[in-house]
Amino acid sequence: MEQKMVTLKINDIPVTVPEGTTVLEAARNAGIKIPSLCFLKGGNETGACRICVVEVKGAKSLVASCVYPVSEGMEVQTNTERVRHSRQLTLELILSNHRMDCLTCARNAHCELRELAADAVRYANDELLPRIEDSAPHLVRDNSKCVLCRRCTAVCRKYQEVGVIGPNDRGFSTHIGCAFDRDLSEVDCVSCGQCI
Ligand code: FES
Repeated sequence: MEQKMVTLKINDIPVTVPEGTTVLEAARNAGIKIPSLCFLKGGNETGACRICVVEVKGAKSLVASCVYPVSEGMEVQTNTERVRHSRQLTLELILSNHRMDCLTCARNAHCELRELAADAVRYANDELLPRIEDSAPHLVRDNSKCVLCRRCTAVCRKYQEVGVIGPNDRGFSTHIGCAFDRDLSEVDCVSCGQCI
């Protein structure tokens, strides 16, 4: 059966994509860049980080474009002041308890967060830095570097089918770890390294 196509406008540019496409993908197809962090096509499509927010005409609040499907006649703006302000604030909050050792960090040259965050350090607070989890031989997890995208928990659960890590606590205290915050060395982790 032929796939139904949908036409919308993104930044006033008409874009036609198959029904079911997300706003993020429609924009990318049209060469319009929307930043993203947690989105991993086919692996993690949860709308967790809110970096990809855009304005949709008629919607009360900003929407996460990575999980928001297109519809006929939709009008989207990806770069308004409201959108930029929201993304900036989200980034600043992510970085507020981030260990700022980029120069010596293994991810330095290929860090999606760093690419986005050049000037976004406003709320740095060393006292909030979490402990480094290095109980297992195959990885060191520094949760201060975590953006809570949950890609790691998705691969652990979906692909490796082990599911030993997940989000603990709530709100600002949310962090990735094992159940009851046990060390990785104490649970059934198989050291596959896919969460890395
Ligand atoms: Fe869309 Fe994270 S990339 S919410």
